[in-house]
Amino acid sequence: MKIFVDTAVPEEVQAAKAIGCADGVTTNPTLILKSGREFKTVIREMAALIEGPVLAEAVSEDRDGIVREGVEMAKWAPNVVVKIPITRAGLEAATVLHREEIRTALTLVFSPTQALLAARAGASMICPFIGRLDDIAQNGMDLIRTIVEMYANYPEITTEVVVASVRTPNHVVESALAGADAVTVPPKVIEQLMRHPLTDSGVRQFLDDWKKIRPA
Ligand code: E4P
Repeated sequence: MKIFVDTAVPEEVQAAKAIGCADGVTTNPTLILKSGREFKTVIREMAALIEGPVLAEAVSEDRDGIVREGVEMAKWAPNVVVKIPITRAGLEAATVLHREEIRTALTLVFSPTQALLAARAGASMICPFIGRLDDIAQNGMDLIRTIVEMYANYPEITTEVVVASVRTPNHVVESALAGADAVTVPPKVIEQLMRHPLTDSGVRQFLDDWKKIRPA
């Protein structure tokens, strides 16, 4: 399962890359705002850091506007993928961009039917948001399991399931068990994936003991 970093901060992409956890990068307007950086500059910077996809979100609300943005963003770097909210206009735009051979990721997916329509529109990826479903007392992971099972019935579907809105290490483990193609992980959760208190105390103890036996 691929790991995409959920950030708009290039230094965080670099840090994740250093431990083999930057197969891609996902952004959204909220993350761009938090980064305090200019959209195009930061996307191009991150796209230069990795070979995998960097998802940049379109903000127009009509088909032609999204297509215009998508065509423009696709010129920024060969690995930019146009992220589009799954609305009627978004599906129409994804269909047009697919014909133009521009890769898209349909985002804000919250139901199996939206996932089916995204595949039919030729989306390269979908981003189902599991944490936000958990937030309203629904089971986000159930959505992933359903989509993966549905897609598996149709080998001609090439749309990748990129699990988004990941909040905990368990979300990552369950995504892998469900057979998701990728999981988009915030830097804080990447840190949690790596750490274990028994590893920390074990390292400490070994180093302390080594100091006692090493030759002066
Ligand atoms: C991913 O595509 C989104 O940018 C992100 O995972 C949303 O996460 P949130 O629900 O924690 O804001």
